[in-house]
Amino acid sequence: MKGRKPIIAGNWKMYKTAAETRAFVSEFIGMLSNRTLKCEVVLAPPFTSIHSAVTGTAGTSIGIAGQNLHWENDGAFTGEVSGPMLKEAGCSHVIIGHSERRQLFGDTDETINLKIDAALRNDLIPIFCLGETLQEREAGITFEVVTRQLTAGLGAISFSDAESFIIAYEPVWAIGTGKTASPEQAQEIHAFLRNELRLLRGSEFSDSVRILYGGSVKPDNACSLMNCEDIDGGLVGGASLKASDFLGIIKEGTEKD
Ligand code: PGA
Repeated sequence: MKGRKPIIAGNWKMYKTAAETRAFVSEFIGMLSNRTLKCEVVLAPPFTSIHSAVTGTAGTSIGIAGQNLHWENDGAFTGEVSGPMLKEAGCSHVIIGHSERRQLFGDTDETINLKIDAALRNDLIPIFCLGETLQEREAGITFEVVTRQLTAGLGAISFSDAESFIIAYEPVWAIGTGKTASPEQAQEIHAFLRNELRLLRGSEFSDSVRILYGGSVKPDNACSLMNCEDIDGGLVGGASLKASDFLGIIKEGTEKD
């Protein structure tokens, strides 16, 4: 795919206890057996299941992500988890700015920018989520919204390693709704974002950064989405909770032309 290694990431949201995580991981690794993956695989369990996920995937190439982090390394922030804590727990990645956090927990473009900075500072690969709501799409301001989110999220953070940075375009109207963006709709925004990234960070960065699509990705739509020129994988919610579906997405999305 386009010279960029695809990534399939599972966002488990507030699903799976530590015991359920252990069961998933052992089933999933069993299914992978000797398969040579053509993509990077990342799982984002809830904080309390990170340890189970890290120990269960030890010795494999599967990365583990936090679903959020605080922008300070420590402090009086009840209920929060920091970059050094995720790193020490064995995370390689962290999801930042998911629409559920933006809508339900007060994440803003400004705090997302601070969180991205915190992730990079702590050697965690950010999976930076952005996307428009249905209302914004219907109002014809999708491009404006994603440009604002992208520009503000990156802000003045200085970094240039595109391999250590992931963007996920997730139209809010497609998350958990069963309504997927068509490959054409998704590709249009991905190409737009890549061009914006070229203007913001130069073409070396924009050509190599991975931009994932998220929003009702399933085994039966993964192939048509992932084959689009500017789509480099998926951030998968619901369908990442079942090992066979998640593997189905990996196969359909990254092993078929
Ligand atoms: P979904 O969620 O695949 O269940 O639509 C995607 C996400 O929220 O990242």
